Amino acid sequence: YYNGIYHEFYQYNPNGSVWGNIVWGHSVSTDLINWIPLEAAIERDTPSDINGCWTGSATILPGNRLVIIYTGADPEKRQVQNIVVPKNLSDPYLREWTKAGNNPVIQPVGPGLNSGQFRDPTTGWIGPDGLWRIAVGAELNGDSAALLYKSKDFLNWTRVDHPLYSSNSSSMWECPDFFAVLPGNSGGLDLSAAIPNAAKHVLKMSLDSCDKYMIGVYDLKSDTFIPDTVLDDRRLWSRIDYGNFYASKSFFDSKKGRRIIWGWTNETDSSSDDVAKGWAGIHAIPRTIWLDSHGKQLLQWPVEEVESLRGNEINHQGLELKKGGLFEIKGADSFQG
Ligand SMILES: *[C@@H]1O[C@H](CO)[C@@H](O)[C@H](O)[C@H]1NC(C)=O
Ligand SMILES: *[C@@H]1O[C@H](CO)[C@@H](O)[C@H](O)[C@H]1NC(C)=O
Ligand SMILES: *[C@@H]1O[C@H](CO)[C@@H](O)[C@H](O)[C@H]1NC(C)=O
Ligand SMILES: *[C@@H]1O[C@H](CO)[C@@H](O)[C@H](O)[C@H]1NC(C)=O
Ligand SMILES: *[C@@H]1O[C@H](CO)[C@@H](O)[C@H](O)[C@H]1NC(C)=O
Repeated sequence: YYNGIYHEFYQYNPNGSVWGNIVWGHSVSTDLINWIPLEAAIERDTPSDINGCWTGSATILPGNRLVIIYTGADPEKRQVQNIVVPKNLSDPYLREWTKAGNNPVIQPVGPGLNSGQFRDPTTGWIGPDGLWRIAVGAELNGDSAALLYKSKDFLNWTRVDHPLYSSNSSSMWECPDFFAVLPGNSGGLDLSAAIPNAAKHVLKMSLDSCDKYMIGVYDLKSDTFIPDTVLDDRRLWSRIDYGNFYASKSFFDSKKGRRIIWGWTNETDSSSDDVAKGWAGIHAIPRTIWLDSHGKQLLQWPVEEVESLRGNEINHQGLELKKGGLFEIKGADSFQG
């Protein structure tokens, strides 16, 4: 959400409804319901993303400066992290983006790192030392990890000597997401603003075709996430959704002071059906997400804007429904808006 406009970026193949040639599709909205599709925002046109512009996250830096960090696949198909900034701030839709001259800003190097499993950086947050941090999904010595990187200027990144969190119960996490929540409070928190003492932190990760999460605390001294409960069997980890829902990201919506999570639903059609339809995959309705009052489970509800799709209420009183009888509710056709 930037200067009054919601932006949705998504993984898009401009060349067909199968996976491949991935660029960043882009749509804008003022209400999360009505969307204007735009041209691709990030295309595969530099060595550091020539084999794909994969998932990333946006961060608003001081002075209302917007930056996106995203994963690129380089000519050797190594996964690297790149930066783009809006090209023309007078364009409210932010159609065009400029790639940083020093891309890639993070190389897949360092002890234990698999250069082919290193992607999907989070939104940045500021630590007590005033430095920016991001977490990147990775395979570290065969274990799954949210690797921690620090920077003063969001351009020059240094890997911290320990991950934000890692687990030997799985071998790779995609789309990590890290945010703060207040138990029993459905308002959202901006991870880069002052976080109340009573807040908990959430680490979300995508694996095994589902989005899972842990609730815990962000220990500022050790600069690590410490889950309240550690379950060795990853099948028991809490899930964001028990249906078809993957690769979600959340953001703090400063317009309404809430946290919104948004995920991708693979429709599970066959490839030939996807080609016949002309698309593959949909985005689930964005949801407000918060923590229950016991601090144990995330709660969620479709954003209130979906109510604007409701109209023509049909109301019948005192109807007796007879067994085998038929009562047709008239006027309840699909939405006419
Ligand atoms: C589109 O797909 C065709 C066939 O797979 C391929 O030859 C071509 O390079 C692709 N174009 C782009 C822009 O990715
Ligand atoms: C910047 O965006 C504004 C608003 O859309 C437009 O009028 C202007 O021509 C753009 N400038 C450039 C250099 O593209
Ligand atoms: C990048 O940051 C590191 C760590 O703070 C510092 O040692 C190094 O000089 C910086 N490099 C550049 C090019 O600014
Ligand atoms: C996995 O990590 C836990 C600590 O988090 C440790 O107790 C356990 O021995 C490790 N298991 C393996 C197979 O390395
Ligand atoms: C989507 O689901 C189908 C069926 O389960 C699976 O074959 C396909 O690989 C999935 N597509 C992606 C991009 O994950």
